[in-house]
Amino acid sequence: MLTVHSVKKLNGKCRVPGDKSISHRAVMLAGISEGKTTIDGFLKGEDCLSTIRCFEQMGVLVQEEKDRICIVGKGHKGLSEPKNVLDAGNSGTTMRLMAGILSGQNFHSVITGDDSLRGRPMERIAVPLRKMGAIIDGRENGKKAPLAIRGGQLKAIEYELPVASAQIKSAVLLAGLFAEGTTRVIEPRASRDHTERMLGSFGITVDTDGLSRTVKPGKLKGTHIEVPGDISSAAFLLVAAACLEGSEVTLENVGINPTRSGIIKVLQQMGAEIMINHQREVGGEPIADLNIRGTKLNAVEIGEEMIPSLIDEIPVLAVAAACARGTTRITGASELRVKETDRISAMAEELEKVGIEVTTLEDGMVINGPQKIKGGRIDSHGDHRIAMAMAVAGLLSEDIVEISNESCMAVSFPGFMDIIRELIDG
Ligand code: S3P
Repeated sequence: MLTVHSVKKLNGKCRVPGDKSISHRAVMLAGISEGKTTIDGFLKGEDCLSTIRCFEQMGVLVQEEKDRICIVGKGHKGLSEPKNVLDAGNSGTTMRLMAGILSGQNFHSVITGDDSLRGRPMERIAVPLRKMGAIIDGRENGKKAPLAIRGGQLKAIEYELPVASAQIKSAVLLAGLFAEGTTRVIEPRASRDHTERMLGSFGITVDTDGLSRTVKPGKLKGTHIEVPGDISSAAFLLVAAACLEGSEVTLENVGINPTRSGIIKVLQQMGAEIMINHQREVGGEPIADLNIRGTKLNAVEIGEEMIPSLIDEIPVLAVAAACARGTTRITGASELRVKETDRISAMAEELEKVGIEVTTLEDGMVINGPQKIKGGRIDSHGDHRIAMAMAVAGLLSEDIVEISNESCMAVSFPGFMDIIRELIDG
C-alpha cells in the first residue's frame, strides 16, 4: 500500500527513465540485426525486461555494461525456435510487435501474457499477419492470447488499419521485413512512428506518403541507439507541476516526437506555462528539456484527432481536468477501453473514490472542474498508469490517498515515487 500526502508545490530538475516504446523496439530490431547494437538510456521497466527475456529465449545475447545494454543480433531469420512459451507479461507492445517478427520466422512459437494481456484483443494483429501467410491461432477463435504462431515465407500486403495503432502498424511493417514484395500500411490517423524512425538507424528505409508507410524486405545492421526520456512518464510530473500553483520543474532529455507530444499542447491550451528548451535530435528522435510552471488551469476539449498523440496520458489528464475551471470533454478515445485495463471505467471508479465526479462516455469522459480532491483508498487495478495518475491526485488532494496494488508502477516508471519525493517543496 502506498500512502500519498498532499504537497504545496514541486520544484527542481530531474530526468525521467527511458522511453518504453523506443526501448522495446531497440531490443527487437537489435535481435534481428547482424552484428552488435549498443543501447543507452534503456528503460529497465518490467515491460521492456519481458521483451529482453523473450529475445534471449530465441538465442539473442543481451549483456549489461554499466548503464549500457549490448545486444548481439542473430541476423535476418536467425532467431532460434523458443523451447518454451514466450511470456510478454503485461506488455501489449511485446506481444503485438514480436508477433510480426515471429510470423516471418520458419518456426513455431507460443506467446502468452498476464491476466490483463490475455484479455486484450489480438485479432487486430492476427488478421493482417494471417493475410501475409502466417498461421496464428489462439483462444476465443484466434482472438486472444496465448497465441500460437507458425511462421514461414510471408508475402507483402497492402493493409488499411481499422484503428490508429502503432502496435498494429509496427507488427505489419516488421513482418514486411521478411515478406516477398512491398508491404504497405495506411492508418486512419498518425500513430507514433518510432518503428519507422528506428528502422532507418538500422539501415532500412520506410517510405512515408501522408498516412501510408511502405517497407521492402531487408537485413538490419547493428547500430547505437540512445533512448530519450519517456514523455508518457514525464506526463505525470508535468500534470502534477501544472496543477500546483508556484511549482517550477525542469525535465531534461525528454522525447518530444510530434506523434507523442499531445500532452504538451493540451497542457499549454489549459494555461500551463511550458517552455521547450535545448531542442535537439538524437538517433532520429527529437528531444528537449521541458520547463513547466504551475498556474490555474482551464478546461479543454480533446477530440479524436488528438487522441493517438496522448493516448497513454489520458488517465493523468483526467486528474488535470478535475483541477481545471470549466468542462473538459475527452472523446474519440474508445481505445482506452482495451488498454491494460478499461481506463475509462477504471479512472472514473477511482476518481469517484476521491470525490471527483466523472461522466463516462463510450469513447471518453466529461469532467467539470474545479473539484476538490478528497482523501481515499483507491486500487490501481494492476495498471501502472492508473496507479501513477492516482498518486498525482494524492499530491493534489486535501487528505491522504492510499493506493493498493501500486507495485505495477515499475512496469513503465521504476522509481516514480523517489523522483516525486525529490521534487516536493513544502
Ligand atoms: C505503443 C502504442 C500504443 C500505446 C502503448 C505503446 C507502442 O498502443 O498505448 O502504450 O509502443 O507502439 P496502440 O498503438 O495500440 O494504440
